[in-house]
Amino acid sequence: MVKAVVIGAAGGIGQPLSLLLKQSTLISELALYDVVNAPGVAADISHINTPAKVTGYLPKEDGLAKALQGADIIVIPAGVPRKPGMTRDDLFNINAGIVRDLAVKIAEVSPKAFILVISNPVNSTVPIVAEVLKKKGVFDPKRLFGVTTLDVVRASTFVSEAAGKPEDSLSFRIPVIGGHSGVTIVPLLSQTSPSIAVDQQKIEELTNRIQFGGDEVVKAKDGAGSATLSMAYAGARFATAVLEAAAGKKSDFPEMGYVHLSADEAGAKEVTSVIGNSTSFFSVPLELGPNGVEKILPLGKLSEYEQGLLKKAVEDLGGNIGKGVAFVESSK
Ligand code: NAI
Repeated sequence: MVKAVVIGAAGGIGQPLSLLLKQSTLISELALYDVVNAPGVAADISHINTPAKVTGYLPKEDGLAKALQGADIIVIPAGVPRKPGMTRDDLFNINAGIVRDLAVKIAEVSPKAFILVISNPVNSTVPIVAEVLKKKGVFDPKRLFGVTTLDVVRASTFVSEAAGKPEDSLSFRIPVIGGHSGVTIVPLLSQTSPSIAVDQQKIEELTNRIQFGGDEVVKAKDGAGSATLSMAYAGARFATAVLEAAAGKKSDFPEMGYVHLSADEAGAKEVTSVIGNSTSFFSVPLELGPNGVEKILPLGKLSEYEQGLLKKAVEDLGGNIGKGVAFVESSK
């Protein structure tokens, strides 16, 4: 019996994500929480004839605590999305407070659940959740993830197109490490499997498109928000991977996730030897298991170009992580 909770379930990501999770036979109960319209979304989705029982909650009558009660996995796409001209970091002022307050409740009600953070800026919101959980004495780095799967999904799509094989996009695997924002996103195209024959100019074009692919959507939506449907797909894919591993299924390939490197000391040591010492959170290839992160897998061999990307990414990430930590420290 698995209870999944979506926080921000009435939003652009939350609705299709809830729909996709309702299709999962791994989930027996799906609790939807939002500050608006969650009971409506829940009523709608509850008519789908898959096993999960669906419930919807608003803030009144301690709805968040009720939604979180007995949760096994919590997915958080709550907060505001970008408008044209905004970076993910511009969202910090609003989303940091939202995520902090949600984390306080999670720490109190369901501290053992897997927590998957989608709300941007992921580079900072995940450290915020970690700091709140630490303060409450319930931080388990194996169970907290920033969802960076959309970058991996985009990489498979763009690379398969560049290789002239869009019909094979599902089988193209590209590790994407680092963070989830602009230059902190580091696609390791030299490790593309199956390998592709493209020149350095194309590598740089592809890298740039994967790093800034979100901007294409923000621009096309012209003020109506950022990626929601592709994000819902990516979020459901990562949540499914976590739940399948929890149920004892071995995965065919590693998923990437933005985790605290203490989740696996031995794996972290190897990763740190590649990226340098200066980051606590990083998106890395993961072996998932019954307790969340089983192993942080090696990053493999990087090209010189990728090493340059990594240097810049680590620099920026340090600031993003520090901002999240400082925010919680300065909160009452
Ligand atoms: P949206 O505005 O359509 O939906 C957000 C939902 O959160 C709304 O329904 C809103 O009522 C709800 N909400 C606000 N405060 C809340 C609170 N305190 N408790 C519960 N719910 C609350 O936004 P959208 O497009 O769904 O994006 C959500 C977040 O996901 C944004 O921060 C966005 O930047 C981020 N995002 C992350 C991606 C990633 O790859 N990790 C990709 C795309 C977006």
